[in-house]
Amino acid sequence: MPNAVLIDDLLDFIRRSPTPWHAVDNACNLLAEAGFAHLRETDRWPAEGCKAGFVTRDDGSLIAFRAGRRALLDGGIRLAGVHTDSPCLRIRPRPTRHSQGYAQFNVETYGGVLLHPWYDRDLSVAGRVTGADSDGQLVSTLVDFRDPIAFIPSLAIHLDREANKGRNINPQTELSPVMLRLGEGESFDLEQVLLDRINAGGDDSIARVLSWDLLLYDTQPPARVGLRSEFIASARLDNLLSTYVALRALLAADDEHASMIVCNDHEEVGSVSASGAQGTFLRTVLERLIAQEDTHADAFSRTIRQSLMLSIDNAHGVHPNFPGKHDGEHRPLLNGGPVVKSNANQRYAGSSTSAALFRSLCERTGVPCQWFANRADLACGSTIGPLTAAELGIPVLDIGVAQFGMHSIRELAGSEDPDYLLACVTEFFNRLV
Ligand code: CO
Repeated sequence: MPNAVLIDDLLDFIRRSPTPWHAVDNACNLLAEAGFAHLRETDRWPAEGCKAGFVTRDDGSLIAFRAGRRALLDGGIRLAGVHTDSPCLRIRPRPTRHSQGYAQFNVETYGGVLLHPWYDRDLSVAGRVTGADSDGQLVSTLVDFRDPIAFIPSLAIHLDREANKGRNINPQTELSPVMLRLGEGESFDLEQVLLDRINAGGDDSIARVLSWDLLLYDTQPPARVGLRSEFIASARLDNLLSTYVALRALLAADDEHASMIVCNDHEEVGSVSASGAQGTFLRTVLERLIAQEDTHADAFSRTIRQSLMLSIDNAHGVHPNFPGKHDGEHRPLLNGGPVVKSNANQRYAGSSTSAALFRSLCERTGVPCQWFANRADLACGSTIGPLTAAELGIPVLDIGVAQFGMHSIRELAGSEDPDYLLACVTEFFNRLV
């Protein structure tokens, strides 16, 4: 039976996290409530070390850790890696376009968006806004309109009789969300609308808006689906499901070994950024933590080579309408437990030793476990796993729960899998071998 409380909390976390910046903010609040110290990269960290702490970079990436009772050189660090971003439509710097008397958001795609499902949704806008306060100092704040304020209407089938025959969508010309019917001589000023919205929420930190990162999202809240509620439907299951479960596992972990989660932004656009998995965030945090314990030049590599990372990102469940899209022997099922992703060409990180270790961990915790390997004639996706392994030299294994409709505006996963995943990751942190 699904863990009802965990599912409620997970769905609530996803609902309150329409953007990577909101997800990190919500995670930070949970960590702070649990007594984790907020460390800043610009500060000197306490020389005596820190039992449990967290660090953010550029508001969209987060690292949180428990130092553990054992020295880092005695057993290394157990790491779980996830990503906070999801494919979506983002608002461009010049945010509006006008057509036929309608004001529309001027958007571009972020990541590998499945475009069709964005039509006919009640869309809202959320993100991060940076502006100047009354003294001219720069400040950033989060904003979420919550209400449906935009919509991308379908074209009626009467105006496109070929619509059901594989019509392509041009993301430049055919995806602009409608948000306003303009009156005669009326114009739309997003900066003023943002300011009004921020002020209406009781936040008067910004006097003038200068720039923003804003995206559109579906206002339909996450839900349980299925005759026996065996599924969960929501936006951003890839990868906020893994993010929330990894966070909960860290909060529940004991203090014997060092455990850590790294939640990276920009995975969906290739991870090449200061806060992405190919950037320096994880390396510099690890270097600082290891140097606090041991300043020898070899301490970093000695610690890393004893460590292990689970790269947790959702996997493709075999779709009952399209079973031929999977290799016949690698067909993960929803509610079938975590999936070990294998790719001989290292598009997924892992080896027989790390996979064996994970399978034995699953057996010990009574959690079922499945395999995924791509069809040889389809291009394989990737994750932060291989990038982090290459960047640090840390052994990494790619795993994740099965889902349908990856990168759709509404995805479907199993309601038992989050509990299975939580059991595994908690065991990984507490008792790896
Ligand atoms: Co993903």
